[in-house]
Amino acid sequence: MAEFDWAFQPKLDRRMVEELFTLSFIDRQEDILVTGKAGTGKSHILQALTLKSCEREIMVRYARCVDLVDDLYAGLADGTYERRMRRWCRPALLVIDDVGLGQLKRREEEATAAHMLYTLLDRRHTNASTALTSNLKLSAWGKYLGDATLAGAVLDRLAATSIRIDVDGPSYRQFLGRRRAEEHGQPPLPADQEVAEA
Ligand SMILES: Nc1ncnc2c1ncn2[C@@H]1O[C@H](COP(=O)(O)OP(=O)(O)OP(=O)(O)O)[C@@H](O)[C@H]1O
Ligand SMILES: [Mg+2]
Repeated sequence: MAEFDWAFQPKLDRRMVEELFTLSFIDRQEDILVTGKAGTGKSHILQALTLKSCEREIMVRYARCVDLVDDLYAGLADGTYERRMRRWCRPALLVIDDVGLGQLKRREEEATAAHMLYTLLDRRHTNASTALTSNLKLSAWGKYLGDATLAGAVLDRLAATSIRIDVDGPSYRQFLGRRRAEEHGQPPLPADQEVAEA
């Protein structure tokens, strides 16, 4: 976090984020949910938290949501689903980054990503901490995970035990891109909003 520019993200609750780095939420088996638009520093914060946990020799596992779900899908294919699920359940801190980025749903007959995440969150709930980041509004999780009821059950568990951080501010990537474009005398790439509308 030494490289994190707090002034760039003035609406971010610095005291709350710094408190996370005491790692006391892990002792309390609390969860973390970091939401916000692309490039606002969500992954940066949780990667720094992962590193801090390693330094304290706390058992931690970090994965992007799509990779975690892919790992469990592979377990369905080769009969190791339960063993893989237990491995995701074990760490004192599990970081699931980028919920909302990448394609999750596969074939209709397979267990959905929502089912896997629900099982994982349910088993970890109040036993161990799970930290998630997402650039989706919570109301969009059902569509993304492929099952509104199960997504609701995941969010219900998180609502009970999670520390919520919303990074409501500009994209640091866009800031870097604009600066780079200026340095090279090039026009900047279109902003998120313009891409979405195109
Ligand atoms: N406030 C900041 N100070 C310094 N660097 C930052 C800051 N915010 C973000 N960054 C850097 O900008 C890049 C994008 O940030 P990050 O990957 O954390 O975004 P994100 O919110 O996870 O976006 P996405 O939703 O696309 O995954 C990273 O290289 C990160 O280190
Ligand atoms: Mg991210």
